[in-house]
Amino acid sequence: MLELQDVCFAIEKEGEEVNLVDHVSLRIPRGHFMAIVGPSGCGKTTLLKTIAGMNAESGGQLLWNGKNLSENDFEPSELGYVPQFSIAYDPLTVDESIEAATRLRCKTRNAEDLDARIDKALEETGLTAIAERPVKVLSGGQKRRLGLAMEMVSDPKLLLCDEVTSGLDPRSERDIVKLLHTLSRKEGRIVLSVTHSLAHLELYDSILVLHEGKVAFHGPPDMLTHYFSVKDTEEIYPRLSTQPSERWQTSWLKHRAAYEEKINILRTRLMKEGELQVPEIKEGEEEKDVRTPSAISQFMTLLSRRWRIFFRDRGQVFLQLAIMLCFPVLVALFSDKANQPIRSLSDIKQSNMEIEMKEQQSVRQDTMKAGSAISGIIMFQVVLLGLMGSNNSAREIAGERQIYEKEKFGGLSPTAYLASKVAFLTCLVVAQSLWMAVFVNLPFFSPFDGEFGQHALFLLFCNASMTAVCLGISAMMKTAEQASLLSIYLVGFQLPLSGAVLALPEKIEWITRPFISAYWSWSGSIEALATSRNQAVEMVISTTLSNQETCIYLLSLHVAVGLLIAWIGAKRHQWD
Ligand SMILES: Nc1ncnc2c1ncn2[C@@H]1O[C@H](COP(=O)(O)OP(=O)(O)OP(=O)(O)O)[C@@H](O)[C@H]1O
Ligand SMILES: [Mg+2]
Repeated sequence: MLELQDVCFAIEKEGEEVNLVDHVSLRIPRGHFMAIVGPSGCGKTTLLKTIAGMNAESGGQLLWNGKNLSENDFEPSELGYVPQFSIAYDPLTVDESIEAATRLRCKTRNAEDLDARIDKALEETGLTAIAERPVKVLSGGQKRRLGLAMEMVSDPKLLLCDEVTSGLDPRSERDIVKLLHTLSRKEGRIVLSVTHSLAHLELYDSILVLHEGKVAFHGPPDMLTHYFSVKDTEEIYPRLSTQPSERWQTSWLKHRAAYEEKINILRTRLMKEGELQVPEIKEGEEEKDVRTPSAISQFMTLLSRRWRIFFRDRGQVFLQLAIMLCFPVLVALFSDKANQPIRSLSDIKQSNMEIEMKEQQSVRQDTMKAGSAISGIIMFQVVLLGLMGSNNSAREIAGERQIYEKEKFGGLSPTAYLASKVAFLTCLVVAQSLWMAVFVNLPFFSPFDGEFGQHALFLLFCNASMTAVCLGISAMMKTAEQASLLSIYLVGFQLPLSGAVLALPEKIEWITRPFISAYWSWSGSIEALATSRNQAVEMVISTTLSNQETCIYLLSLHVAVGLLIAWIGAKRHQWD
């Protein structure tokens, strides 16, 4: 039994409290199928979210089988919430989507148990025949079924559906309503379905009409037109606007008991006729809860799903490969000058003073040219790796935020989620940075001429720090577009603020420098060069360099801060 007693959900508006859900009281028995209808903006979604616990009630209380929900939340497996948006990834198949949902939500005993759950969810939602089809080719109705199937894997005892029929043709709409009806007939499951549509209301056990957050009616569907004194259900919304919501609420409270009684009589009849089966919960015997899997198991599921999505998306794989292979080639193309050996004065022995001075000047000029080319090419590398970093992670969380929020609500651990992102991105970062380091240190092409390991380490840290910071941005932003834009700005500002090209005023330099990973990667890489090249660079730059340890320390700090921000962002609730 789900019971709402004077439940309110209020927001602050211009210094005043406004109730979006206003003193809603309901008693919904097990095995009940209820529609929540009302004009757009009347608070249907808000009420559903308040029941689900996504909105904390500001007044009243919610009881679930006698337990106060403000003290004991639903177990993630007890509750299914089907939002209006698709919660599946386009490149996966129906079967793979349901399998991932099962692995994330239910602790299964063995492979048979897992398969049985997947098969049951497919069967219940009529998806068995199209189990191998990719999500991206599914029709609107099939996608809604998939959304339902992904919730059904944990056998929820309360299923909340928000507009799962909107945008469907009348036949698909009826099919989905019938499916929801069927799901409420067994196992005592309560199904609450928010809908815009006033068609097929006869399939529900009761209809809740909301008006400006208040209950205007709750009773059997065949009493709806009578209650509102209209001929057709379509006339109900215009009728609602004829008097203030307070009046509707007051008159409803007068009739409430009588209509609840009618709902009960109907329910008893259905149970007698065997149309509704509600298994008894014997006293002292709690319903068997499905347990949430461990964070490690969720991590493994997410990581394998991430790789699968990556390899299915050919465009993504091609882009990654193109960036990885072409960026080092770009560096090679521009590094002709930096590749020249540095001439040293000790090679030159001239008897004539004038010639010797000229030679000295020429060597100095060549060295400065080489130094400037080396500094430039290292900065070019650093900026390209920064770009790769932002491309790696800017969309990673923001691009799937709603799906993630949905999965988190279903029991996914944010730590497991973030760890799977870190593991996936680490592979990209290592592959990209090492390939860049190997390519630019090939024997035929060695402008760096220093310790390979140290050079590779700075490239790795450069990429890792930008990837981690952009992952943090991705976790904080609402949309992938916002996250991408901010990340690109971040990379764009690295070059001017690094001091490698333009010297900054000292006061500004000391404020901005700690945040500029390009400076630390550039400075560290120059310090890792062979001595003669390092001296050549130092001849031309006006910016002071920092030693390698400081650079590594600062870059590690960037990685740590990026991950911390990502973790805070991932923990935060960000429902639309
Ligand atoms: N967090 C919030 N802050 C401010 N206003 C909100 C918030 N959530 C909802 N609202 C407002 O509350 C009202 C009810 O919103 P809700 O989404 O519940 O309506 P609805 O009945 O589901 O509408 P629709 O049928 O269009 O989906 C709307 O006016 C909406 O703008
Ligand atoms: Mg809504």
